[in-house]
This record gives sequence, C-alpha cells and structure tokens, in this order.
Amino acid sequence: MKGIILAGGKGTRLYPLTKITNKHLLPVGKEPMIFNPIRQLTSAGITDVLIVTSREHMGEIVNLLGSGKDFGCNFTFKVQDEPKGIADALLLGENFAGSDSVVVILGDNIATHSIKPYVDHFIAQKQGAKVLLKQVSEPHAFGIASLDEKKIIKIQEKPNKPESNYAVIGIYMYHNGVFDVIKNITVSSRGELEITSVNNVYIERQELTYDILAGQWTDAGTLESYRLANEMLFNIDNRIIDGEM
Ligand code: DAU
Repeated sequence: MKGIILAGGKGTRLYPLTKITNKHLLPVGKEPMIFNPIRQLTSAGITDVLIVTSREHMGEIVNLLGSGKDFGCNFTFKVQDEPKGIADALLLGENFAGSDSVVVILGDNIATHSIKPYVDHFIAQKQGAKVLLKQVSEPHAFGIASLDEKKIIKIQEKPNKPESNYAVIGIYMYHNGVFDVIKNITVSSRGELEITSVNNVYIERQELTYDILAGQWTDAGTLESYRLANEMLFNIDNRIIDGEM
C-alpha cells in the first residue's frame, strides 16, 4: 500500500493568505497543514508517499519536507502543471503506484483520529475502492453520498439539493485499476477531472465500500474551515489519536 497526498490547486478561497505560498504550507495548530495528512498515512503504516503539488510551490514543499526521514517515510514529488482537478492530480501517481493499491489524501483534509482501521479494512477488500464519510452541516459544499441501508447509491458533487448530509471526505482508497478509471472519465462543467466521477464508476461496478470516520474532521479550504482546523489541532497538540471503530 502506498500513499498519495494531493497538494496542488490555487487555494483562492483563502486569498490573500495563499497569494504567495501554498495552502498546504499554512500553519494549522503548531505545524504546517500538510503534516497532518502525512501523519495520517504513517499512522496507518504507509511509508512510501508521493506528494503532488503545483509548479510554483514545489521548491518550498521540498525544502520543508526533505527526503521524509524526519517522518520515518520516503517522499517522491511530482508537479501538476495546471490545477485540472483532483483526479487529474491523482493520475500523476500512476507510475509511482506501480502494481500497489493507494490511499489518497487531499492535503487540506485535517483529521484527529488515525485512518488505520479503515486502511486495514481496505487491505482485506479484494477489489474496487473505499471512501470515508462524515456528517456535515453544509452539504452543498462537498461531494455528498446518497445511501440506502447498506451502500452508497450515488455521489453528487456540491449538490444544490443535497440528498443527505454525509460528505465523502478527501481520504480515498483505491486498488490499482483506478488509473484506468480516471483515463475514461470526462471533464466536468467546471473544467476539472472530478474525483466524484471516479467514485461513481466504482458505485456502478458495485465495488465501492465506505466507513464513517471517527473523531473530528474538516477541510481547511475556506477561512471558516481553516479556523476550525486550527482549533482542532491546537486542542490535541497536533497528535494523531489512535483510531477506534
Ligand atoms: O474536502 C472534501 C471535498 O474535497 C470532497 O467532499 C469533494 O467531493 C471534493 O471534490 C473536494 O472538494 P473541494 O472543492 O474542497 O476541492 P478543492 O478543489 O478545494 O481541492 C482539494 C485539494 O485537492 C486541494 O487542497 C489540493 C488538491 N488539488 C485540487 C485540485 C483542483 C490538487 O492537488 N490539484 C487540483 O487540480
């Protein structure tokens, strides 16, 4: 199992904080934002990690993170020239993944509890993909899952009329076939290759499972959520709490 952290994009919703630096380098609690997804991966035993970021900020990211030895892991770095979407960024990980499965974390997703239990579930899952869900108060801002008793039947990206308040958060697990799935999806109306399109393919194939993430979670992409992310991590001294089910 390998890890991929997507830390590209322009971070415009945090302007002017992100005018001269990358969103994932901003402080959250006492550390740069990207440390939380890195610690999430290492807490699950994943030590081979690809970081995808934009051309403008690759230098700063490499300066901060180095080889990975401070985190007990190995980093590989890849540039996404243009922010053409989360699935576009993930596709850059194809050679890195080789024949392995991947855990993908959006660099602005902050969580207090370890993802290890869900990664362990996924290791036992022979094919397909797993997403993690969390109930949110503003479902129009996320990918939202429609659920029946047992499974996700549909995911809608930022729906006007959300069918639930279960957000598909930015921590995804895929078997190796994900790169072929990405090559066959089309660009959305906002001009991006959407991760929600990828996940909907796995729903059609009946190969998408989910777990509900324990503990607190937020993205940190808006001023309000960035403030919440700071509070969350200050409260736990930026530790990752052992995951419980
Ligand atoms: O946070 C969870 C949400 O993240 C999900 O519920 C949505 O389904 C998913 O689409 C995503 O929504 P956002 O609108 O918050 O995504 P955003 O464009 O802000 O990108 C999130 C991270 O992904 C960002 O911190 C960096 C990375 N990214 C994004 C884009 C568009 C890239 O690395 N490259 C990109 O081209």
